[in-house]
Amino acid sequence: MAEKTSKVLVIGGTGYIGKFIVEASAKSGHPTFALVRESTLSDPAKAEIDEGFKSLGVNVVQGDMYDPESLLNAITQVDVVISAVGHHAQLEDQHKIVAAIKAAGNIKRFLPSEFGNDVDRVHAVEPAKTGFAIKAKIRRLVEAEGIPYTYVSSNSFAGYYLLTLSQPGATAPPRDSVVVLGDGNAKAVFNKEDDIGTYTIKAMDDPRTLNKTLYIRPPANTYSMDDLVSLWERKIGKTLERVYVPEEQVLKNIQDAVFPLNVILAICHSNFVKGDQTNFVIEPWFGVEASELYPDVKYTTVDQYLDKIV
Ligand SMILES: NC(=O)c1ccc[n+]([C@@H]2O[C@H](COP(=O)([O-])OP(=O)(O)OC[C@H]3O[C@@H](n4cnc5c(N)ncnc54)[C@H](OP(=O)(O)O)[C@@H]3O)[C@@H](O)[C@H]2O)c1
Repeated sequence: MAEKTSKVLVIGGTGYIGKFIVEASAKSGHPTFALVRESTLSDPAKAEIDEGFKSLGVNVVQGDMYDPESLLNAITQVDVVISAVGHHAQLEDQHKIVAAIKAAGNIKRFLPSEFGNDVDRVHAVEPAKTGFAIKAKIRRLVEAEGIPYTYVSSNSFAGYYLLTLSQPGATAPPRDSVVVLGDGNAKAVFNKEDDIGTYTIKAMDDPRTLNKTLYIRPPANTYSMDDLVSLWERKIGKTLERVYVPEEQVLKNIQDAVFPLNVILAICHSNFVKGDQTNFVIEPWFGVEASELYPDVKYTTVDQYLDKIV
């Protein structure tokens, strides 16, 4: 096992998932650096994040992935680079991070921004298809450049998908009726964000994850929508009306929807109709499963998560 002292740079550490990664890194004792844009540091709405980082002992490095000098300066200070940038344009432009890592020459592991489905094993329709393809293109570049990597396939963020039982547009779990895409049998995986941070940091310098995908697919967090709804019904002591949407109708709804609903529906189609988070076996030559690799991590199960939102 690698030493616990790997120095880590998180790019996108002020973002939704990035915050959990930065926190997990700092709390586990790794010297942690976050590349943060000047505009973010001077934004009063984000001052809390900066203060939180400082209280954790995080080294905030002012910079921008579009400013090669600041990017290179940040990268030369660490051993591991984790990207958690979010939008299509930045995901595509991660080639700038790859170029800086190549130029720096000191990086032992790069984790590009993934944190979702395994983009090499999806059966997605547009517009999700293009989004997944952007991440796959970055994978191919990293591999072609010979940069040591780990891809984190964290599957569904609990705060996005479990909190609402995957009802697009909802802010709370359903209490009367629930929409189920497809036949309700495809299995998906729901992980709490701080567990994703914990597993990411454990894997980032682990020789067993070198040039592999880390799948966060704990058995206790793997549910079909039908089973998830049944579990929820038992917790609230009520039977919900289940409205099943056949795949053909889901595809039509995606085409009729406008951004960002079309993207959300297309991702849900991949997750809950095609079963893309679970419809393949993790073979040792390309991947490892996080809860098997790190049995010591007491992750939050779907059952425990739902208990908190009843
Ligand atoms: N599995 C799931 O359920 C799920 C759900 C959502 C997202 N994801 C995936 O998770 C990953 C991260 O997404 P997210 O939603 O957490 O992202 P996000 O909240 O949009 O955060 C993006 C981060 O990138 C930073 N950033 C943007 N432009 C930058 C630049 N030029 N230089 C340096 N930093 C820059 C932002 O900084 P500022 O704070 O300055 O804006 C922010 O910290 C993506 O790969 C996404 O596809 C997965």
